[in-house]
Amino acid sequence: MAVGTVLVTGGTGYIGSFTTLALLDNGYDVVIVDNLYNSSKVAIDRIELISGKRPAFYEIDITNEAALDGVLDKHPEIDSVIHFAALKAVGESGLIPLEYYRVNVGGSIALLRSMQKHSISNIVFSSSATVYGDATRVPNMIPIPEHCPIGPTNTYGQTKVMIETVITEYLEAERRNNKKAGKPYEQFNGALLRYFNPCGAHPSGVMGEDPQGVPFNLLPLLGKVATGERAKLTVFGDDYASKDGTAIRDYIHVLDLASGHLAALNYLREHKPGVRAWNLGSGRGSTVFEMIKAFSKVVGRDLPYEVAERRQGDVLDLTANPARANEELKWKTQLTLEDACADLWRWVENNPTGYRQDPPAELLEA
Ligand code: NAD
Ligand code: WQD
Repeated sequence: MAVGTVLVTGGTGYIGSFTTLALLDNGYDVVIVDNLYNSSKVAIDRIELISGKRPAFYEIDITNEAALDGVLDKHPEIDSVIHFAALKAVGESGLIPLEYYRVNVGGSIALLRSMQKHSISNIVFSSSATVYGDATRVPNMIPIPEHCPIGPTNTYGQTKVMIETVITEYLEAERRNNKKAGKPYEQFNGALLRYFNPCGAHPSGVMGEDPQGVPFNLLPLLGKVATGERAKLTVFGDDYASKDGTAIRDYIHVLDLASGHLAALNYLREHKPGVRAWNLGSGRGSTVFEMIKAFSKVVGRDLPYEVAERRQGDVLDLTANPARANEELKWKTQLTLEDACADLWRWVENNPTGYRQDPPAELLEA
């Protein structure tokens, strides 16, 4: 008998696939909805390969409320939702803002409406550290606590703030209205998980990040430099006020991030806190140069780079204060940056075209 059944939107994507794995490994059943815009169905085979369990999968668009209704009609056992499905490219979001608001905000509203019709009242939402914007604009906000003032600097970040607001107002209204009507209300709960910089892959080397287009994040790009697909890394600015001049981020292993989702879901089910935000980060900041060094070490050679201008919209420091998640969720990161680099390299080296080819037989048999 399953502990519960979770609808995972965006469950074939990077973080969604690892969270599905964590849920299955911890006794939950999972139903995935994803339109495969930025992912592949092969992720489901790899989840099954590792866990021995296969989640149900529906290829649908999150903005299609009728299709979501169909899935929830078919699975009345679903009691909670973890919502990953979204467009996530910061640069692109400024070019096609309507599409970002339609998919991210519109899709979340369709999801909440469908949940409401099916009396599903727990939601864990993929928010982002990007909601804080430049936390150095406010004194004493590094490492960043959840009470840091919100101030997104791009459209993608704005969509995350809006979705946080929609979820909060919806669940608070449901609580208020039901309480007033003398009905049970404590079942309406939401976790707003603000992740810092997810990275890494499964230590088996058979599951990792496989975006459909060109990656834009630091570690996947370093992976491409290591395989020779890219000649060198461009370092965006070495004139920041950090120890080596490059910008500071809080890199978190995707396995730790996945276990953070499990901890948040369990917390909602157990403590029924209403809506609450938690930072998911390690609390340790690393510079771009430190990341190049750490990844070069696992690859076994110095990876080439050149320093260029700062990237527009980048900020000096996004390091989490994860104390709230540490204390309340009893969760903290277990894996190191070295683990993330080693796991990423195992994934990239063995699967240079991601899920488009089978990994080496020895990894499949391991
Ligand atoms: P991802 O692109 O790998 O996963 C997102 C998934 O959503 C993909 O499988 C994609 O196909 C699916 N999707 C997109 N549009 C859809 C639609 N209209 N209908 C149904 N499915 C759709 O990205 P990820 O890195 O796994 O990110 C997951 C979530 O975490 C996103 O909400 C993202 O904004 C958030 N997040 C990511 C990061 C990061 O750096 N990776 C950091 C903070 C927050
Ligand atoms: C990390 C550091 C770059 C590429 C983004 C989103 C954020 C969140 C996580 C979703 C920065 C530097 C990078 C390169 C470089 N996503 N860099 N050369 O920008 O911290 O966060 O992903 O919510 O919202 O903005 O991540 O991996 O792009 O960059 O020097 O080719 O690496 O300047 O300091 P970022 P990133």
